[in-house]
Amino acid sequence: MSDYKLPDFIRARKRGASYQAPIIRDALKLNDVQKSLGRDLFYHVITYGCQANVRDGEVISGILEAMQYTHTELLQEADIIILNTCAIRENAEKRVLGEIGFLQNYKRLKPSLVLGVCGCMAQEEVVVQKILKSYPVVDLIFGTHNLFELPQMIEKILVNNQKAVSVYSYQGSIFEDMPSVRSLPHKASVMIMDGCDKFCTYCIVPYTRGQQRSRLAEDVIKEVVQRKQQGYKEVTLLGQNVNAYGKDLENNGDFGYLLRKVAETGIERIRFTTSHPWDFTEEMVSAIADYDNIMPYVHLPLQSGNDEVLRRMGRRYTSRQYRELFDSLKNRIPDVAISTDIIVGFPGETEEQFLDTLAMVEYCKYDNAYSFVFSPRPGTPAAKMEDNESEEVKKQRLYRLNERLDFYSKANNEKWVGKTVKVLVDGPSKNNPEIYSGYSPQQKLVNFKLKAAEVGDIIDVRITEARKNSLNGEQV
Ligand code: 5AD
Ligand code: SF4
Repeated sequence: MSDYKLPDFIRARKRGASYQAPIIRDALKLNDVQKSLGRDLFYHVITYGCQANVRDGEVISGILEAMQYTHTELLQEADIIILNTCAIRENAEKRVLGEIGFLQNYKRLKPSLVLGVCGCMAQEEVVVQKILKSYPVVDLIFGTHNLFELPQMIEKILVNNQKAVSVYSYQGSIFEDMPSVRSLPHKASVMIMDGCDKFCTYCIVPYTRGQQRSRLAEDVIKEVVQRKQQGYKEVTLLGQNVNAYGKDLENNGDFGYLLRKVAETGIERIRFTTSHPWDFTEEMVSAIADYDNIMPYVHLPLQSGNDEVLRRMGRRYTSRQYRELFDSLKNRIPDVAISTDIIVGFPGETEEQFLDTLAMVEYCKYDNAYSFVFSPRPGTPAAKMEDNESEEVKKQRLYRLNERLDFYSKANNEKWVGKTVKVLVDGPSKNNPEIYSGYSPQQKLVNFKLKAAEVGDIIDVRITEARKNSLNGEQV
């Protein structure tokens, strides 16, 4: 057919026990053509999914700007549109395919438009085959491992008039010093690791993002110090499983060590996500408790409250172990807020097993939660498990679960009424330019009428009203 490099799930699954990822420090090399290929042209990147994808989107924008492309908000003005995709559940994928269908119209109006698909969906064999077959308007496909190849791929399209398809299914490398366009002036994401080796049986991430690979602590700290010097107030340390940080490195230190080192940079606020309970040590709990600039908020995915379901999910903890960790966080970190992820309708989940999940929600009384109906991902073990429950029953479980989750979100928010909290100001709220919003240390969205503050200020707000997903207050 061509020189396409296509994804391969069997290779993506392979892991070496002692894999230490190569660190590539100057991956982005632009030749003279590529350096000005985007001159007088506009780009638009549409990102779906998690914060790691958002961070990749910033790097993609950085690469395009290094090629002299200019950002545009207007799709009709764009000369290249890149869909940076998510594969976590089927409906995430459906949305992207719908969007490609919609963007075909722009391509008809402007045949020179380059349409690209990247991110986790591009790492899936079946998806790439489908795009090649059914969406010939897509000129460019690249995966999560090879952002640095974007300039040569665009050159191939614009200069040689060929489609460019290049996806690698391997463990992956670590790329330092990539250019990036930060989406916010006061809050920055800092990737501390990529990939995941947990292989929870429902999850596609270990296949699409590769083997766990941590950045060196010194590189992470250097980046945080830079951000602080540039005026950023908050960093979020990102990874699919941040608590496993460093396990793939020698003489580097683990996540507890990294948290302490990052806290000692003195940056005002530190957040981190996502935590896997299995890798969460007491020492990490201590690190969070010991530093005022590590925010008292932990996202601790539960997935299920039933031990048998947890076992079949490959989660490696029991409901009792989860509760012990939960108690430890609550007891040792004052006013800590805890949120979670829950899947209902995992193959074979019975009504009784679902009730265990509800019981866990009654115990943990989460501040916030993301709940999902199980979505079979082709190529994962859970997709092949016997599943006799109807979608209707699963939807009802989700509904019953959400009713309790909403109850506790609101109840937790009500505890803040009458208190004064520190809010990092994000700017005017989406719906009303006179109302500003920002987040409290516990990651509560706070809306308030502006007296005097600018984006990036940390101000006191007295909470006057609690809603399910936010708090209202007055600046003091
Ligand atoms: N179906 C439903 N939910 C899923 N998640 C991950 N994979 C699936 C799947 N196949 C959820 C988990 C995870 C969150 C990011 O998405 O709850 O924590
Ligand atoms: Fe997926 Fe489990 Fe890894 Fe999270 S820890 S990314 S749910 S495999």
